[in-house]
Amino acid sequence: MTKRVAILISGGGSNMVALARDMAAPDHPAAPCIVVSNVPSAGGLARAEALGIPTAVVDHRPHGQDRASFEAKLADAMAPYDPDLICLAGFMRILTPDFVELFEGKMLNIHPSLLPKYKGLNTHARAIEAGDTFGGVTVHGVTAALDDGPIYGQARVPILPDDTPDTLADQVLAVEHRLYPAVLRRVASGVTAPLHLE
Ligand code: GRF
Repeated sequence: MTKRVAILISGGGSNMVALARDMAAPDHPAAPCIVVSNVPSAGGLARAEALGIPTAVVDHRPHGQDRASFEAKLADAMAPYDPDLICLAGFMRILTPDFVELFEGKMLNIHPSLLPKYKGLNTHARAIEAGDTFGGVTVHGVTAALDDGPIYGQARVPILPDDTPDTLADQVLAVEHRLYPAVLRRVASGVTAPLHLE
């Protein structure tokens, strides 16, 4: 059975597009069922529509600090599409343990660092600041702790002497677009052993 994948975004959605394009292959074990954004102006919404994927917006702002009520709406938006897997793809909201538990073992995230290094924000600046010779990207299962959970795939990107956070981010993003689809294919087929992409 083809796995149904919900993709959650907050921005341009380039990772979402990479996932959707890969899932368009006839032999793929998964297919996108809905793209949800918490940001009404997110550029990724139009890109999803252009790909023929249903979209929904669940704006977090009217919910203020009430994460649970925002997440209830998010779950409601996804429910009709009955996703087997949820891919967070540049989704910039922290999820509560209760929400994560609802989808335990079914939710993936992409994070632009070699976890467990540099959880949270500004990962590229922190890697350069630390004098690291490699940055990179991780796809992991989502657990209640931020940017934690089992690692399903990683890829390294060399940090060159002239790199700035922006140039490194560009290099890493290009690798994100290869790693996330490769990991989703594996996870949708039941393979969760870490993939090390070169
Ligand atoms: C990516 O760098 C992702 O790792 C980070 O946010 C960015 C999202 O880009 N969490 P996009 O919306 O997929 O283009």
